[in-house]
Amino acid sequence: MVKTTLSVIKADVGSLAGHNVVHPDQIRIAEESLRVAKETGIIKDYRVTNCGDDLELIMTHSRGEDNDEVHKLAWSTFCKAAESAKALGLYAAGQDLLCDAYSGNLKGMGPGFAEMEFEERAGEPVVVFMADKTEPGAFNLPLYRMFADPFSSAGLVIDPNMHGGFSFQVLDVHEGTSVELNTPEESYDLLALIGTTGRYILKSIKRKSDGIIAAKVSITKLSLIAGRYVGKDDPVCIVRAQHGLPAVGEVLEPFAFPHLVAGWMRGSHYGPLMPVAQKNARCTRFDGPPRIIAWGFQVKNSMLTGPADLFDDPAFDMTRAKACEIADYMRRHGPFMPERLGPEEMEYTTLPQVFEKLKGRLKKEE
Ligand code: F6R
Ligand code: MG
Ligand code: MG
Repeated sequence: MVKTTLSVIKADVGSLAGHNVVHPDQIRIAEESLRVAKETGIIKDYRVTNCGDDLELIMTHSRGEDNDEVHKLAWSTFCKAAESAKALGLYAAGQDLLCDAYSGNLKGMGPGFAEMEFEERAGEPVVVFMADKTEPGAFNLPLYRMFADPFSSAGLVIDPNMHGGFSFQVLDVHEGTSVELNTPEESYDLLALIGTTGRYILKSIKRKSDGIIAAKVSITKLSLIAGRYVGKDDPVCIVRAQHGLPAVGEVLEPFAFPHLVAGWMRGSHYGPLMPVAQKNARCTRFDGPPRIIAWGFQVKNSMLTGPADLFDDPAFDMTRAKACEIADYMRRHGPFMPERLGPEEMEYTTLPQVFEKLKGRLKKEE
C-alpha cells in the first residue's frame, strides 16, 4: 500500500499593514508555484491559505517526510512570495527566510513545518490547525484534552479502539532531548512536563495499540535552539480523526476554551487563543488576540477534498466572546506579569540596557 505524506509548511515572508495579513498576490504566487509542482509530479495535491501574516502551504505527496524535493519546492515558493512582498513594499518582506540559499532541508532555515506519513484508512479525515501570534506549546493543552482527557474526548472511555490510550512524544527545548510518555498510566508525569509550555512541547502522538500516527506539531525551529531562546514560531499541527481516533468534534472541542498562550504583541505577552474562520485570521487588537484556524479535509489516494473551515461556526461564538473578554482583562495589567511574559521567555527585552544604565546607581541593601 502506497503511503501518503501530508506536509504543512509555513513562513511569514511579509505582510500587509504591519504583521496583519498575507497579501492576495502572495497567495496567487504560491498557488501558481504549487500548481506547476502538481503538474510536474513533485506533489499530488495542495491548498494555499494564510493564518494572519503566515503563508501556509498544505501539500500531499508520496515522498515521505523531510523530502528534499518538497522542501525545495516550499522554499522556492516562499522566495517568490517574498520577492512580491518586496516589490509591493509589504512589511518585513522575507522575514522568515533566514538563509540565502536552500541547502537540502528546511530545518533551521526559518519556515516551520509539520509532516505526517500514513497509510490511508478507508475514510481519512484530517484536521490542519494553523495559528498566528503564538508558539508550538500552545498545542500542549488542547492535544492533551483530545487524546488523554475523557471529559473532552468521550471516545477514550466508550470507543474500544481508543480505550488503550495514546503515547505522547515530548521535546525539552532547553536540553534538546525528547521522551515518550503513555496515557492513561503516565498522565500525571505527562502533565508535570507539558504544563511548562515554553519548555516541554508536545511533538507527536501515536495510538498505543498499533502505533499509528495521530498528531504532529511543527517544532522545527525549537528543536534546533536547545538552550537558547530565539523567538516564537507561529505553529501548525496535523491531527487525524475518527475510526478509533478522536472524532472531528472531539478534535475541536478543546478549542471551545480560549486558553492563555504565549505570543501576542511582540511575542512577549499572554493572550487567549481565539478560534476563528479563515477570513477572520487577522490579528488586530494589540496584534491579536492570537488566532487559530482549523481546516478539515478528507484524503483519498493522496488527493485532498475540502477544506471545511471548521471554526466558521456560531458554535464557537461564545468562545470568541469569552476570548475578547479575557483579552480585555489581561490587557489591563499593561506591562505587568502575568500579562507580560517572564523575562526568560520574552521575544523583546530592554532589561540589559536598563541594568546597564542603572549600574552606577545600584547599592547593596544592608
Ligand atoms: C508578534 C508580532 C508582532 C510584532 C510587533 C512589532 O509575533 O509579529 O506583534 O512583534 O508588531 O513588530 P516590529 O518589531 O516589526 O515593529
Ligand atoms: Mg509578521
Ligand atoms: Mg505570524
